[in-house]
Amino acid sequence: MLSEELGNKMTKRIDHKLLANERKRISQKDVFNKRKVFDDVLDKTTIMTLSRLISSGVISYVNGVVGSGKESKVYWAVDPAGRDIALKIYLVTTLNFKQKRTYLLGDPRFSRIKKGTRNMVELWAKKEFRNLKQCANNGVPSAKPIYLLKNVLALEFIGKNGVPAKRLVEIEVDYNDYKNAISIITQLYKNAKLVHADFSEYNLFKTERGLIVFDLGSAVDVRHQKAKEFLERDINNISRFFVKRGLVVENPSDIFSRITK
Ligand SMILES: Nc1ncnc2c1ncn2[C@@H]1O[C@H](COP(=O)(O)OP(=O)(O)O)[C@@H](O)[C@H]1O
Ligand SMILES: [Mg+2]
Repeated sequence: MLSEELGNKMTKRIDHKLLANERKRISQKDVFNKRKVFDDVLDKTTIMTLSRLISSGVISYVNGVVGSGKESKVYWAVDPAGRDIALKIYLVTTLNFKQKRTYLLGDPRFSRIKKGTRNMVELWAKKEFRNLKQCANNGVPSAKPIYLLKNVLALEFIGKNGVPAKRLVEIEVDYNDYKNAISIITQLYKNAKLVHADFSEYNLFKTERGLIVFDLGSAVDVRHQKAKEFLERDINNISRFFVKRGLVVENPSDIFSRITK
């Protein structure tokens, strides 16, 4: 786990290296694995950020896309030790972030919000990084955050050989998974002091070591004025999923009361 101080030190180190590398800047064609094709949704600044991640040794190269949504794309990268890394890149070219302000406003950890899309996007990445750290520090089974630079978030890769683990939506589930999912919501609230706010079968991996939660960009501090509303929605959504899959579940409002009492 990187502490804030270590993070700052690393940032300084990167800046230092950047200066040294000024002349031999890594170009776009060096960032991506030459054997693989990639799409060109990434803007120049983001490619520059990827270059910085390479020169600072966080990754060696990017291998390909593993997931893509409206606001972000997730890439499979490899670090110098040969380990798989997931890179979640928040897209600067999206307009959706404007609607996201409600998840930032009201969260005491993000009281000062600067205007401008790039700032919003970087803040959003920072928010997910912070949330993931809060999970990791409190034993919530989640993808471990590794590094954050601007709109690029490096995470532990959950899966094998560049193939992400199956999400709940893609795989058979049983009562144990249901219990596990409710336990994660509870741990998020009670230990990490967070409400996921987008908790669903799409954002849970089912792995050999149990369920792993990810996609914590929307998660809010329990002090957020809508935290309870989001918690209720999370419990309802995941309960509905398990009911759809033929399971008998506990009354969602009983779970809500138990978690918040
Ligand atoms: N840590 C990870 N390891 C492997 N694959 C990941 C990881 N995080 C995300 N992915 C893949 O990328 C997809 C999108 O990630 P997610 O964080 O849910 O972004 P979005 O905000 O677009 O929903 C996931 O469904 C998953 O397949
Ligand atoms: Mg998602």
